[in-house]
Amino acid sequence: MRSVTFHQPSKLVFGRGCLQDCAADIIEQAPRTVLLVTGRSSYELVRPLVAVLESAGIAIKIQSGVRNEPTVDQFHSFFAEAAMQMPEVVVGVGGGSALDVAKLIAALLDSDQQISEIFDVDRLHARRTRLVCMPTTAGTGSEVSPNAVLLDTADSLKKGVVSRHLVPDAAYVDPCLTTTVPPAVTAATGMDALTHCIEAYANRFAHPAVDLYALAGIKLIGRHLCRVVQNGDDLDAREGMALGSMYGGLCLGPVNTAAVHALSYPLGGEFHIAHGLANAILLPHVLEFNLPAMPERYAEVAKALGVVEDTHHSETARRGARRSKR
Ligand SMILES: [Fe+2]
Repeated sequence: MRSVTFHQPSKLVFGRGCLQDCAADIIEQAPRTVLLVTGRSSYELVRPLVAVLESAGIAIKIQSGVRNEPTVDQFHSFFAEAAMQMPEVVVGVGGGSALDVAKLIAALLDSDQQISEIFDVDRLHARRTRLVCMPTTAGTGSEVSPNAVLLDTADSLKKGVVSRHLVPDAAYVDPCLTTTVPPAVTAATGMDALTHCIEAYANRFAHPAVDLYALAGIKLIGRHLCRVVQNGDDLDAREGMALGSMYGGLCLGPVNTAAVHALSYPLGGEFHIAHGLANAILLPHVLEFNLPAMPERYAEVAKALGVVEDTHHSETARRGARRSKR
């Protein structure tokens, strides 16, 4: 068995209402200035956090302009503003875009590196600014992963930074923050999370220690995704999706993704198709293409998705590929 390395947040809190734990933990650190990086819709969800921190005498700077699929140019302007403020803590709240921007800002504050120098794997030397992340979608798992992605419009390419220094110091996964996500976004982000789990389990570099997260994530997402798209107020289903998404994020460091993600990044860079939607379009086709290579593994994926098992692994696996279309 090959060795495997996990880099995870020092503190990982999962549960309804853990937004309050986040506030208490930040206050305990007693920073003078906190930068909150978020998008417009997520900001409404964390007003209570801002109010609690302000009442504790902490100065809050707010960058609420992060939109989907942030570009390198947008990052430069977010970072220039943050560099003037020099916060002691960066808090990312939102979907993957806001979390990725928060992670990169924290990484490059008090650093002699530029964003252009850290794209690719293990180029980032260090991170000196405390980083806290709180997702408001169930999809990217960015709150626990070492990854961040920006769109470089000059090259029409999605460019990733992968570094253990991008794993936040603390992450708070509060399913209550996901209840206002509209159905289409819930579906797309949920398919992203499912893809993280499937691509980790069916990966050439799969590992039993990561399979635990991957299979548990596939089961949770298979059971709850349709339910939560049909009824966004179903908090039990939101909770299942938030947990499945977190498991998918935990797969991203030690094993990572495969062909679906490799093919979806150009779709995002060239045609601006949202990441989760691009994955959803590609997933069944990649599954069908790949399943002859490892029918037993893909049959396990299919069973985790809840399909009826056939006497032949290949047929069970094909049923799983068909299930991923619906
Ligand atoms: Fe993804």
